[in-house]
Amino acid sequence: MFNGRVLIITGAGVSAESGIPTFRGKDGYWRNLDPTKLATPEAFARDPNLVWDWYRERRQRVRQAQPNSGHQAIAKLAVQAGEFLLVTQNVDDLYLRAGLPADKMVQIHGDIFMTRCSRCEFRRYEHEHDVGSLPKCPECGALMRPGVVWFGEQLDAAKIEIVENFMRGGDCKLVIVAGTTALFGYIIGWALRARGQTGQLIEVNPEETSLSQFATKSYREPAGTVLPRLVNELLSNINRVRRSIDCLQVAFRRPCDSSSGAG
Ligand code: OAD
Repeated sequence: MFNGRVLIITGAGVSAESGIPTFRGKDGYWRNLDPTKLATPEAFARDPNLVWDWYRERRQRVRQAQPNSGHQAIAKLAVQAGEFLLVTQNVDDLYLRAGLPADKMVQIHGDIFMTRCSRCEFRRYEHEHDVGSLPKCPECGALMRPGVVWFGEQLDAAKIEIVENFMRGGDCKLVIVAGTTALFGYIIGWALRARGQTGQLIEVNPEETSLSQFATKSYREPAGTVLPRLVNELLSNINRVRRSIDCLQVAFRRPCDSSSGAG
């Protein structure tokens, strides 16, 4: 049934079972916190200490979290499927820690462990080192900021290009969208474009979203339950197809092998 290109698009719901809060929903960050005070360039200009405190707390939470069975299933598929790309809105490193190769993933909203200069191009990765004071750029002296995309900011053009490049490679047989409210137009746009006319679009989300109307199939269960099951089914289909191809190749090769042996 299946042996083709795969695009997976994920959001905060996939990391929820690792103890990392989502943004919307009953336990989400935006239920009690105001995004305009924490996740905009204006908020950072107004109160960089408040913004840094929030990101340091989130970094600490991510460090203490472990990848769950949803991350692991996606990593397994990434390694074993032919052409694969994960586009995630998550800024945590749980897919990488689950074994997903870095070149098969685009963190379209940035990386929480990246710290970058608010003025020049300087950036550094700070997984371990996290000082309490406001970091200053060693190149130009300006304030350093978290390397994530805030409301009102553009997505990174280089990351968009990776996604577009994958799209140019052809339609996907399978697109899975998991754990996201899919509120941003580019998320729905990529999912629909990637599956083309014939691909399957599977949604994994306990709740209905604006993407649900376009899905071929929706699983209303947690990602940590559905994704391992789905990935195991897909991989057993892929392996069955590969075994059939191997058998055919052996069957076609046999007459040639015997004639060359006779010579
Ligand atoms: P949201 O918090 O908007 O949505 C999380 C989604 O995950 C919801 O649709 C939940 O129903 C679903 N969900 C919860 N638990 C789940 C589980 N165990 N398995 C599967 N799904 C589950 O998070 P995102 O859609 O990722 O952006 O939010 C998108 C962006 O909005 C974020 O990257 C962030 C936020 O503001 C920025 O900060 C720029």
